[in-house]
Amino acid sequence: MTLDPTSARFTDPLSGGLSRRDWLRAAALGAIAGAALPGLVLGADGKAAPEPPPAGKTLLVLGGTSFLGPQVVDAAKARGYKVTLFNRGKTNPGMFPDLEQLHGDRNVSLAPLEGRKWDVVVDTSAYFPRQVRMSAGLLKDASKAYVLVSSISVYVDTSKPRLDESSPVGKIPDGTVETIGEGNYGPLKALCEQAAEKEMPGRVLNVRPGLIVGPGDPTDRFTYWPVRVARGGEVLAPGDPADPVQFIDVRDLGEWIVRAADKGTRGVFNATGPAAPLGIGDLLSACRKVSRSDATFRWAHAAFLEAQKVEAWSDMPVWLPPAGETLGANRVSAARAIAAGLSFRPLETTVADTLAWWKTLPDERRAKPKAGLAPDREAAVLAALRARA
Ligand SMILES: NC(=O)c1ccc[n+]([C@@H]2O[C@H](COP(=O)([O-])OP(=O)(O)OC[C@H]3O[C@@H](n4cnc5c(N)ncnc54)[C@H](OP(=O)(O)O)[C@@H]3O)[C@@H](O)[C@H]2O)c1
Repeated sequence: MTLDPTSARFTDPLSGGLSRRDWLRAAALGAIAGAALPGLVLGADGKAAPEPPPAGKTLLVLGGTSFLGPQVVDAAKARGYKVTLFNRGKTNPGMFPDLEQLHGDRNVSLAPLEGRKWDVVVDTSAYFPRQVRMSAGLLKDASKAYVLVSSISVYVDTSKPRLDESSPVGKIPDGTVETIGEGNYGPLKALCEQAAEKEMPGRVLNVRPGLIVGPGDPTDRFTYWPVRVARGGEVLAPGDPADPVQFIDVRDLGEWIVRAADKGTRGVFNATGPAAPLGIGDLLSACRKVSRSDATFRWAHAAFLEAQKVEAWSDMPVWLPPAGETLGANRVSAARAIAAGLSFRPLETTVADTLAWWKTLPDERRAKPKAGLAPDREAAVLAALRARA
């Protein structure tokens, strides 16, 4: 399957358009625990230490107007950066009328960036190494730091728990391919990271997020659970309540990216949560608590779901069976980023804000969620599960 990375539908290989095989290969994904306090970091003694905002610093976002980009923009503005955006002006035009906007297609020409300088470049829109060679190549003398938003999909073997930044990344025979599909998203992201580092050695912050969630998420994966549980009644729940899940609130990620870049953090970092293990049961319980619904959960074993052709990750979003090739997919280590200040707002906040955002969407959009089980299908699977019991 091929997805156009420039289309509105494409956000990550973990999105609704890919096969389970692709998802399994791509398995990315974390979230929660503790509170994020923008502008504060915890010192070695655990006490909050205020960070003064930089004065007169400039930041360029390659992208900036879909999901993660706007959070990077907001975090940068909050830290006193003067922000410039470079994109084609197609996605959410007019989103930031107060910012300088340079328009162009990064696949074709970066001419509007020539002769300019920024303190930090944050690249949220790179999928192919040629794009990074072009942008980091042009900007290496124009910027002190380059932040590349990569993905934990780079890891080749998700059967291993505690994947960390030293774990092997995927490889593909042809690194010049410029279509996403058949498990090449992760390896291409790895090549993007390498291209950035080659152009700007020692000045790159390669950020590998897990599943990014929260208000504005165009994929409806995490969103499925707050919305489904709020509807109430019997909810089909996957696997075992203790099965681990990982994701990161888009606002925590955007804020950390800017703060880390600002502090001079460089290198490779998995950026996902939670800080302490979280089960799918904890997520569903938080959804019920937030929405005060009457939902009850009927848990279905992975084998039953498979027999019913209910797919992990796409039909039962966020969840992957903690066995076999996905044993480690939701057990990725973010220890390095946490030590570098990554923090997580409470799960309930992410759930509540996601639900509130969802309710603001037009009826037509909410009628066609891009992930999760449709109500009639869920009812049929629940009936089969009851009959079996
Ligand atoms: N979603 C997840 O769970 C997840 C997980 C791990 C990693 N990631 C990574 O996180 C990043 C998030 O991306 P996002 O979409 O939220 O970022 P974003 O910066 O909010 O949106 C993408 C931006 O790229 C611009 N763009 C797209 N194609 C372009 C082109 N050819 N030339 C110039 N600009 C272009 C778009 O504007 P125009 O269309 O107007 O050009 C838009 O402003 C991605 O790198 C993704 O791989 C995502």
